[in-house]
Amino acid sequence: MKKLEETAGFLQSQYSETPVVGIVLGSGLGSFIDEIDVEKEVAYGDIPNFPVSTVEGHKGKLVFGKLGGKTVVAMAGRFHFYEGYEAKEVVYPIRVMKLLGVQTVLLSNAAGGVNTSFRVGDIMIIKDHISFFTPNPLIGKNMSEFGPRFPDMSEPYNKQLIQKAKEIAAHHQFDIKEGVYTAVTGPTFETRAEYKLVHTLGGDVVGMSTVQEAIVANHAGMKVFAMSVVTDMGIREEENVITHEEVLEAAKHAEPKLAIIFKELVASI
Ligand code: HPA
Repeated sequence: MKKLEETAGFLQSQYSETPVVGIVLGSGLGSFIDEIDVEKEVAYGDIPNFPVSTVEGHKGKLVFGKLGGKTVVAMAGRFHFYEGYEAKEVVYPIRVMKLLGVQTVLLSNAAGGVNTSFRVGDIMIIKDHISFFTPNPLIGKNMSEFGPRFPDMSEPYNKQLIQKAKEIAAHHQFDIKEGVYTAVTGPTFETRAEYKLVHTLGGDVVGMSTVQEAIVANHAGMKVFAMSVVTDMGIREEENVITHEEVLEAAKHAEPKLAIIFKELVASI
């Protein structure tokens, strides 16, 4: 808790306003930052106790400013478990956001489709998740300053925000999917058998992020909204392989739709 407070205190010394919304941008989705009227940027490397992002496609800075009339803080680049960070490091920025005053968290990611009706480039509202393949970030002594030992998880993604996002998509006349995100550690993409397993378990997409952050945000009593961009199809007829480059490219392509949803959602909060 002391380290978290030190980090939050440092950030408050850099930016005096209270962000009410926190945004986490996934692989290939960092250009959303351009939507924000930036008032302050702080590189991860300059923030006390912050982990430092390494993976290609991540910019690694915290951005403070205005979006849709609200004060927001956005992470350009997140910390993944597969990079070697512990679960509690992955979620560190989410807890810092809570200490800064954030009440609602918007998460985004690139993910592989296992729902056979999905196509590359689709965007999907996450309505629920399966976290059994990744370490739960709340393992260890409970941080009771944030929330209870055994948090309820019956509605990890806020129903009102999901409804609002659907209305925004309908208004702009673009198709939006809704489904279950299954978290895996990566960094390997899944084998054909693993994609099938995820499908059998009830997953619609599979990805290497988001769920640990969503759990910690729920624990701390923040509202969560999350969206995936389908960047590749795991269950497929073709003999193709999946590459990080195609994931980034597909994410970049779908990013404008995600930007509209996030922007109008923030304005509506
Ligand atoms: N699997 C896991 N993570 C991913 C994928 C995938 O197919 N695509 C993008 N992130």
